[in-house]
Amino acid sequence: MLKIDLKTLKVEAEKEAEKAKNSKDLNDVFKKYLGKKGEITQILRSLKNLPEKERKKTGKSANQLKQEIEKSIEEKRKKFQVPSYESQDSIDITLPGKKPAIGHLHPLTLVKRQIEEIFQAMGFSVIEGPEIENEWYNFDALNIPKDHPARDLWDTFYLKDGLLLRTHTSPVQIRFMEKNNPPFRIIVPGRCFRHEATDASHEINFYQVEGLMVGKDISVANFKAVVEEFLSRFFGKPAKVRLRPSFFPFVEPGFEVDVTCLICKGKGCKVCSRTGWLELMGAGMVHPNVLKAGGINPKNWQGFAFGVGYDRLAMMKYKINDIRLFFTGDLRFLKQF
Ligand code: DAH
Repeated sequence: MLKIDLKTLKVEAEKEAEKAKNSKDLNDVFKKYLGKKGEITQILRSLKNLPEKERKKTGKSANQLKQEIEKSIEEKRKKFQVPSYESQDSIDITLPGKKPAIGHLHPLTLVKRQIEEIFQAMGFSVIEGPEIENEWYNFDALNIPKDHPARDLWDTFYLKDGLLLRTHTSPVQIRFMEKNNPPFRIIVPGRCFRHEATDASHEINFYQVEGLMVGKDISVANFKAVVEEFLSRFFGKPAKVRLRPSFFPFVEPGFEVDVTCLICKGKGCKVCSRTGWLELMGAGMVHPNVLKAGGINPKNWQGFAFGVGYDRLAMMKYKINDIRLFFTGDLRFLKQF
């Protein structure tokens, strides 16, 4: 009697499972037959009232039936979980596809391109030079003689045969002057290297943009106008600069250029150490010896030059507090740009 009950129940359960249209329907079928108060569960429970011999025999086949029903329900459930082609009558071609992730530019590349755009709009050409230099271009021609203590300003990676990794983009000033006659205005973005300990604001490998403008009567006033225009466009708000006297062998006079603090707009805050100013770059009027080394007569021509770390500009623009993040390749950082 019991056996027959179970068998019919199994057939019914499987029929209903087959008819189920979604997983909710299936859950209902499961509940109806196999749930705590399910029909089959109840029958299994009542087995305990049978005499031992019969209980063992019936129990075994009852359990087997139960497992078979479970299996049919699971099989059907799979069809709902993975909408595979086989389980569907047709393919819905209007479903959106999976888009491959699109790559994007590194923040330093973005900043470099923006700098180039702004200077090109002001009539500057973009020039490049080699990362492996010799002492003449990196030092001597820039008015930094061999045993002069100023050479210690740049901690240098020396290579074989008098070669070195350029410590700044200034050597490209000489390379360009050798081949071109004034008047001209150029910028030189590029990678530089210094043999230094790294910390949040120093990397052995960093990026600069050199600027050089030479003409008949180029003055400090021209420099100030160009650099203020550049910074205002770069940061998207009016920027003021101030010049402080400083020493660089390749300029005379030389100065340190500060920009109004972008955070407090000059009022004084933590970032600018309450001064209202941020130190930005070195600059000056090109030294006559440098013009001469580039084959230009300093009696007829004069100009300004500047050098700015554009990783620093990127840090200011995007409020990045550690220069080393640029080179970690950490996607959590890079995906923000
Ligand atoms: N080359 C300098 C450096 O790396 C920066 C610099 C200062 C460049 C003054 C210039 C300049 O062209 O006029 O520290």
